[in-house]
Amino acid sequence: MTERTLVLVKPDGVQRLLVGHILGRFEERGLKLVGLKLVHADRALAERHYAVHRGKPFYEGLLDFITSGPLVALALEGPNAILAVRTMVGATRPHEAAAGSIRGDLAVETAQNLVHASDGPETATAELALWFKPGELLDYGREIDRWVLAPGD
Ligand code: CMP
Repeated sequence: MTERTLVLVKPDGVQRLLVGHILGRFEERGLKLVGLKLVHADRALAERHYAVHRGKPFYEGLLDFITSGPLVALALEGPNAILAVRTMVGATRPHEAAAGSIRGDLAVETAQNLVHASDGPETATAELALWFKPGELLDYGREIDRWVLAPGD
C-alpha cells in the first residue's frame, strides 16, 4: 500500500551536515520526496509535535533541543513507507539501533538521535498536517513507478 510519512532531520543532523546523506539514503531506497522544507521550529510547534511526551522527564530538554536550530522536514512516499522508514531509521536509543540503520550507523545519543519518523498511519497523517500545508505536498509521477511498483503493493 502506498503511504506517506514524515521525517525530521533534527537540528543535530543539520549541524553535522548530514542532511544530504540522510535524504540520500531514503532516495536510494526508492522513496519519493513529496515535501521538503528547512524549518526553525518554535516552541508551540515543538509542543504539538511532541505532545505525546508531555510530562516525561526528558520532555523539556527535548523541546529545547528540537527548537535549538533549523531542522529539515521531509515528506516521503512509497509502498509501506511508514514501516520502511522506521526500519531504516532504527531504534530510538542509538545503542540499540541495528547497524546499517541511520541511527545505528551515525548516532550514539538518545537525545540527539538525528531523525524523527512517524510511527504509524494516524501519526503520519497528523504529523504531515502539522509540518506541511496541503499545497506543500506535491503529487507527481515518476517513470520508474511503472517498473518497480506492482498494483496493490
Ligand atoms: P523521536 O523519535 O524524535 O521521538 C521522541 C524523542 O524523544 C526521541 O526521538 C528521542 O530523541 C527523545 N527521547 C526519548 N527518550 C529519551 C530519553 N530517555 N532521554 C532523552 N530523550 C529521549
